[in-house]
Amino acid sequence: MPPEVLKEAQKEFLDYHGSGMSVMELNHRSVLFNQIVAEAKEDLKDLLHIPDNYKILFLQGGASLQFAAIPMNLMKKRKAGFIITGHWAKRAFEEARMYGEVVELASSSDKNYSYIPDCKNLSISDDFDYVHICENNTIYGTQYKELPETNGVDIVSDILSKPIDVSQYALLFAGAQKNMGPAGVTIVIIRNDLIRDDVLMGTPFVMRYKEQADNDSRFNTPSCYGLYMCGKVFQWLRKLGGLSAIKEMNEMKAKMLYDYLDKSRLFHGTAAREFRSIMNVTFTTGNDNLDMEFVEDSKKHGFVSVKGHRFVGGLRASLYNAIPIENVKALVNYMKTFEMLHG
Ligand SMILES: Cc1ncc(COP(=O)(O)O)c(C=O)c1O
Repeated sequence: MPPEVLKEAQKEFLDYHGSGMSVMELNHRSVLFNQIVAEAKEDLKDLLHIPDNYKILFLQGGASLQFAAIPMNLMKKRKAGFIITGHWAKRAFEEARMYGEVVELASSSDKNYSYIPDCKNLSISDDFDYVHICENNTIYGTQYKELPETNGVDIVSDILSKPIDVSQYALLFAGAQKNMGPAGVTIVIIRNDLIRDDVLMGTPFVMRYKEQADNDSRFNTPSCYGLYMCGKVFQWLRKLGGLSAIKEMNEMKAKMLYDYLDKSRLFHGTAAREFRSIMNVTFTTGNDNLDMEFVEDSKKHGFVSVKGHRFVGGLRASLYNAIPIENVKALVNYMKTFEMLHG
């Protein structure tokens, strides 16, 4: 979370806009909360240039619940394609399998998901309801550099780190906890023609896009405080200059770290160069014990969560929007010192 946003929220914590109440205490159908939702939607729409034929839904249950909600809502012909670029794409595939036929269109499992497979000639037939892609692979540090020609419905889970053309997607979804706000809010941006009543039997009302769209994301009580914080982050991003400005900063941060990794004699990046993520930089010394020593020692220098995901081991630096460039500089300097001592 950007510190400016936290400070602003702190100021309003006990008394939101003279209401005498914290946002946590506001009724989710009150005038004040309606304003919070409306402004958050407007700001997100403005940031992503979301076309008028899309709706923004603020839901709960994380990206993981969407792995089920998407097939339940969209599988009319009971068939979907998946590009398997890692753990999360695989999870979406396994979840959708419960509702219909799932087809693996391409995969990078042969090299432990260290690259994005070639998606030029995917065999997608007309009977596919949608094609699922995971644009940024948090665990493996890979990212699509261009959208695959899926000729159908694309679904991604990476948002707000750079400008995108929303009209190229049928549905986008993301948990707030990376670039948008605290965990507890899930954002779905969906094209209007996909918001339909004819969902699969057994789809809970709360998971039906139509119900949520008709009720302005308040079919049930939303994560009110989380949504308010997301709204503040959207305003922060707009003040910074929007998504082109944040992209430039994110690319600078990533370049700084990758440039060092490419020169280092101790550390090396683990993702294929042409698919390196600007959000999650994965690397290793190649020695498990030394990696662990780096994790432990880095804590003493104020760096947290540099341990790689348990599925891949090694090390990872996540450079989400709120991480300032000074922190990346400090990390690189610290890595240089570690290299001098252990290289
Ligand atoms: C790319 C991606 N998809 C899905 C998820 C799962 O998200 P959630 O924990 O919100 O269900 C994550 C979590 O880190 C992720 O990085």
